[in-house]
Amino acid sequence: MQYEERKFNIPDLAGISKKSVEEHLGLYAGYVKNFNTISTKLVEYAADTEKNAHALSELIRRKSFEFDGMRLHEYYFEQFEGGAKALDESSALGEAFKKEYHGYFVEYFKAIASMRGPGWAMLYYDPVGKQFQAGFVGEQHQGHFVTLPIVLALDVWEHAFLLDYGALGKGKYIEAFFNNLNWSVIEKRFANILAKQ
Ligand SMILES: [Fe+2]
Repeated sequence: MQYEERKFNIPDLAGISKKSVEEHLGLYAGYVKNFNTISTKLVEYAADTEKNAHALSELIRRKSFEFDGMRLHEYYFEQFEGGAKALDESSALGEAFKKEYHGYFVEYFKAIASMRGPGWAMLYYDPVGKQFQAGFVGEQHQGHFVTLPIVLALDVWEHAFLLDYGALGKGKYIEAFFNNLNWSVIEKRFANILAKQ
């Protein structure tokens, strides 16, 4: 099965230019295309694993890089759809944040997002431990919390902010991300996770 590029309805963002969003969407499309190409090649290589051993192992190593790049960008871009909306403090997410983070979640998450290196600041929820897990994923495939559903995904690769803010502009970009975030998307994700328990 070939994956299809998703289309997003992203409004004008404050502090993240249209040009930057367009180029970023182009990178996303590249991940979809590359993942499909790898999948097709692997079917070919599987016909003779001995002969294709080196090529096969190289593609297998790249496979999750491309897949996670595809999927994480889908989580990322849909967070802007519908326009900026503040967190509803009385929602299940708002209440869970209060219980676990006592009001410091956003500052904590910004600190994670400010870490050096290309990657993603991530928030997951663990239905088993009944708690959030916030972390940093290197590139897009290193350091995920296995099986945990994603609540929030913030791309902090340079390509996300270089055009608007330059190489030293990650902090300003992180502020812009939160200024444009539609928290109702995040609330819905969290409600869906709780509903599946
Ligand atoms: Fe990205």
